[in-house]
Formats: sequence, structure tokens, C-alpha cells
Amino acid sequence: PKRWLIVPAAGIGQRMQAECPKQYLRIQSRFILDITLSRLLDALPFDGCMVPLNSSDDWWNETEASRDTRVSTCMGGEERADSVRAALQALSDKASPEDWVLVHDAARPCVHRADLERLVSTVGSHPVGGLLAAPVADTLKKGDKSTTPEVVETVDRKHLWRALTPQMFRFGMLVEALENARRNELSVTDESSALEIFGKIPVLVEGRPDNIKVTVPADLELADFLLNRSK
Ligand code: CTP
Ligand code: MG
Repeated sequence: PKRWLIVPAAGIGQRMQAECPKQYLRIQSRFILDITLSRLLDALPFDGCMVPLNSSDDWWNETEASRDTRVSTCMGGEERADSVRAALQALSDKASPEDWVLVHDAARPCVHRADLERLVSTVGSHPVGGLLAAPVADTLKKGDKSTTPEVVETVDRKHLWRALTPQMFRFGMLVEALENARRNELSVTDESSALEIFGKIPVLVEGRPDNIKVTVPADLELADFLLNRSK
């Protein structure tokens, strides 16, 4: 089977409250999107890479990736899942149902080669696929619905994982699962959820907890630190 890469980059980064979408903020003078893409493309061979962009994107043409012949772009959608569906559609001419597709957030520049290699080798012979995930480290409390919530209970964190990316699935199965979620108006925030709703059982592959999604302003400094350290 072939291996495809989708890096959704069509979000507006509302929680970052910056003057541009967070994937176009710079860390050590490079766009986050360029850092993310180069780390993925340097770590593994792909048969193609599709980056869904926002329809009002003003920054893509400034990126290194825009001059990289391995990278193609398409129009993203309203939700992350819509952007991923658009990218799958854009690749569908060249892909076969049994091919693999890795989906990785543009906003996760700290992903490591060893995690990518472990994901691919662990999931490579699985019928469905799987995702990088990190065991939950904190004690978890369930709160009630009031503005100053009171503790309802402590949730046992054993067997609980934080879903990371990349998530790696069979191309045809991911297309069907996302279409099923859309048809049933179920919003999914990752690929695995769509597969789960569709009755498939993905594998959890333990990955580094520092594969953070740059989401709020404080994450920028953290990502800067993490990227500097791993040089
Ligand atoms: N994304 C996308 N299309 C969307 C929404 C999100 O391609 N309609 C991408 C983002 O660009 C990001 C990844 O999905 O790389 C993860 O989403 P998230 O962290 O939520 O990014 P944003 O939606 O941009 O941020 P926010 O939710 O704070 O607005
Ligand atoms: Mg979002």
C-alpha cells in the first residue's frame, strides 16, 4: 500500500488570539506550519502530501512548503473533519482504499521521528490503524455544571490516554467513517472518533507527551523550548 500525508491547516486559531492563524506564527523565525511539514517529510517517505488551507489564507505563499514539490494544497472546510474530508477527496484519484493515510495537525510542530517510526511499524499490518497517544498523568476530577464546580468524583486515570497526532488509517475506511459522521451530523475532533463511531477499533500507540498542539499563547514559548532542546 501507498502512504499519504494530510496536514490540516485551515483553522483560524481563535484561542491563540494572534494577528494571524497560529500555523503562521513563527518559532525561531520559521512558520510553525513549515516546521511541522519538514519534520514529517524528513522522517518518513510519503507518496503525496495534501495541506487543506482556509479560503481566506493570506500566508501560504510565504512558506517554504509552498515551494516544496512534494506538497499540494486544497480548500479546507468549516470544521477540522471537513478539511480532512476535502484533502482525502483531493487525493482520491491517486489513492487506493487499502493505502495508509497519516493525518497530523499543522499546529503540532514538536512531533519526533521516533514516534512516527513507531506508529508506522506498530500499525502497518493492522486492518484499521491507530494513533499516537500519551497516558494521562494528572489526577482527573469530574465537576458538576455550576460556575464554581464542585467535585462529583475522581475519575480513574488508569487506561485513559490523550489523543495526539499523527493518526494513521486505511484510506478507504477513513473516507467512509468521516462520511458516516457527516451524514449523522456527529462532530468529531479527530479521525479515531470517526472510526470508533463507524464500529472500528483503532490501536493506541504510546507517543511522547511533548507532542503538544500549539493552542493558547503560552504554548508558543513551550514549543519554542521543546524544539530548541531537540536540536
Ligand atoms: N483545522 C483545519 N480546518 C478547520 C479547523 C482546524 O484544518 N476548519 C486544523 C487547524 O489548522 C489545526 C488543526 O486542525 O492545525 C487542529 O485544530 P485546532 O487546534 O482546533 O486549530 P484551530 O481550529 O485553528 O484553533 P481554534 O480551535 O483555537 O480556533
Ligand atoms: Mg479548532
